[in-house]
Amino acid sequence: MAIRSLRPTHRRTPPKFFCLILLIVVPTCIFGIYTNYPKISYFFRPLWDKPPTPFIRLPHYYAENVTMDHLCRLHGWSLRAEPRRVFDGIIFSNELDMLDIRWHELYPYVTKLVILEANTTFTGIPKPLFFASNRSRFAFAEEKVVHDIFPGIVVPRGSRTDPFELEKKQRIAMNALLRHAGISYGDVLIMSDTDEIPSPHTVKLLQWCDGIPSTMHLELKHYMYSFEFPVDYSSWRATSHIYGPRTFYQHSRQTNYLFSDAGWHCSFCFQHIEDFVFKMTAYSHADRVKRREFLNYARIQKLICRGDDLFDMLPEEYSFKELIKKMGPIPRSTSAVHLPAYLIKNVDKFRFLLPGGCIRPQD
Ligand SMILES: *[C@@H]1O[C@H](CO)[C@@H](O)[C@H](O)[C@H]1NC(C)=O
Ligand SMILES: *[C@@H]1O[C@H](CO)[C@@H](O)[C@H](O)[C@H]1NC(C)=O
Ligand SMILES: *[C@@H]1O[C@H](CO)[C@@H](O)[C@H](O)[C@H]1NC(C)=O
Repeated sequence: MAIRSLRPTHRRTPPKFFCLILLIVVPTCIFGIYTNYPKISYFFRPLWDKPPTPFIRLPHYYAENVTMDHLCRLHGWSLRAEPRRVFDGIIFSNELDMLDIRWHELYPYVTKLVILEANTTFTGIPKPLFFASNRSRFAFAEEKVVHDIFPGIVVPRGSRTDPFELEKKQRIAMNALLRHAGISYGDVLIMSDTDEIPSPHTVKLLQWCDGIPSTMHLELKHYMYSFEFPVDYSSWRATSHIYGPRTFYQHSRQTNYLFSDAGWHCSFCFQHIEDFVFKMTAYSHADRVKRREFLNYARIQKLICRGDDLFDMLPEEYSFKELIKKMGPIPRSTSAVHLPAYLIKNVDKFRFLLPGGCIRPQD
């Protein structure tokens, strides 16, 4: 009796009804896949993309008021008789506030702050020289600044260019600028974007310890829009180098070593909505701006207060577990501990970067 009741009942459905359903469902699906193709392909990334070779994570020890000698030893390194010189090299776009925080943080430890800015975007649109025209704000660092302008190529409207090609040319120009700044073999070179800031205690280890790997990726805590929205520890592109004959300025995978918890990466951490719009249209993934309304000021303000994605994209993950965990808005944090000191000393200037400060000024 019980077994028989589990058997499915067979009822005949009229074929006409099926045809109608198919006629509606199939075109809807095709249209849906077509219009949401990037989103769908991201969703299935775990199926079509393999994760890169995992990093060898190097543990990182730090506490306040522990001697350099002790810290070096904890890492299996030894204390040097004198510190290495440090060069910080960045290719700048428009992240003025991040630059302010970065340089205040690094200033005491670096020999030269090397900054290259182009007069066009990677996508070939003429671009204001944000650093050159705001240089007075950085007077505090003037004696260490080595700045140059990269003459970009203007691409006429309608024609296309490979943004990564222009990016590569800027990296070559950066190598020349570093040599011009006086870098020599054995110095420390930090290669990163403006918004990827190594913490001072990381830089001190690079300066003072013998035995560190000649190239290490720096694992940075990744934030979006402000320090209110910590994403994860996935940021790895910044690197530290002991400068040598084969050092070449890059922003891609260069070694398997990853030095843990080495600083902060704050993406889209702008004060003005117009800077979000500039970055969204200017950077190498400008193809993600699929619809004009993406650049609407009210929409951007709403999304950055929610910790939601500006491009309506899914997270780039290699496993379904991670992807589903990261879908939706970034959980809000109320911590302002272990952030750059200059930020905490100047909270009035940087309210928009701190918990509860997501509303950007309207002007
Ligand atoms: C740091 O260590 C020194 C020597 O051990 C000690 O005299 C000093 O009070 C410590 N400072 C802090 C802030 O803990
Ligand atoms: C910085 O430079 C840009 C581009 O020249 C300019 O529009 C802007 O007003 C400057 N910002 C400040 C705070 O001076
Ligand atoms: C960029 O700079 C170069 C060299 O100074 C100049 O020839 C070129 O016209 C500039 N381009 C733009 C878009 O300002």
